Amino acid sequence: MHDRPYTLLSCSVSMDGYIASAASRLLLSNEADFDRVDAVRASCDAIMVGAATVRNDNPRLLVRSQARRDERTARGLAPTPMKVTVTGRAELDARADFFTTGEAEKLVYCARSRVGDARARLGPVATVVDGGRTVEMCRLSNDLAARGVERLMVEGGATVHTQFLTADLVDELQLVVAPVFVGDSQAPRFVRDGCFPWNPARRAKLADVRQIGDVVLLRYALSSRFEDE
Ligand SMILES: NC(=O)c1ccc[n+]([C@@H]2O[C@H](COP(=O)([O-])OP(=O)(O)OC[C@H]3O[C@@H](n4cnc5c(N)ncnc54)[C@H](OP(=O)(O)O)[C@@H]3O)[C@@H](O)[C@H]2O)c1
Repeated sequence: MHDRPYTLLSCSVSMDGYIASAASRLLLSNEADFDRVDAVRASCDAIMVGAATVRNDNPRLLVRSQARRDERTARGLAPTPMKVTVTGRAELDARADFFTTGEAEKLVYCARSRVGDARARLGPVATVVDGGRTVEMCRLSNDLAARGVERLMVEGGATVHTQFLTADLVDELQLVVAPVFVGDSQAPRFVRDGCFPWNPARRAKLADVRQIGDVVLLRYALSSRFEDE
């Protein structure tokens, strides 16, 4: 038993490294890759995104394939994984698809100063966890492990990616590169500024490269826990 889940960070980027356009969501995948991501989701116990992704993209974060949902149910699991988000301001809408879709539990890690507001707003639709004075991803990961999460999928956005990567909490990075440019420095990139454990002196290990239609999947092994497929 590990003190944090096996953590897989999954992200699609444009050829110039952006994960969205400045104003709107951007389709950076294709059907075959969506299906691959669906299989990865089905293999995890929890899926996490930041509050800005919940607000901007309104994602459902469900397993789409009925066969995969049935397979999870047969294993005694909820049809889709638990959903997890993190917020400081607690300005999340209880009517967002994140909260209203799927049977699995929804967890909201909230900075202590706004936990009361978060419970008032989201109490009926989610479990609000006091994340401490500032929510640290290391403590959040430990708490998820204590709740039985063995495999965590992190699906964005840039702020959340940055914290998981700089804290060296990611075992596997699945980076999809889509054949488009965004070309707008106001748009969010894959990560924000930070001190990352991988640099010219310590290069990450590229474990696999796969072409999926017009996108390419790069799998990086970022820890000794990396599980080869
Ligand atoms: N291409 C892809 O694969 C992909 C995937 C997902 C998202 N995206 C894109 O990513 C963009 C959003 O990225 P983003 O960097 O702006 O946002 P984000 O990482 O989704 O969320 C950031 C927000 O999460 C909360 N948060 C993060 N860390 C926290 C901490 N330690 N303590 C407390 N709260 C914390 C804060 O919420 P509050 O503001 O509520 O305090 C913060 O504003 C969207 O435009 C979306 O389209 C792309």
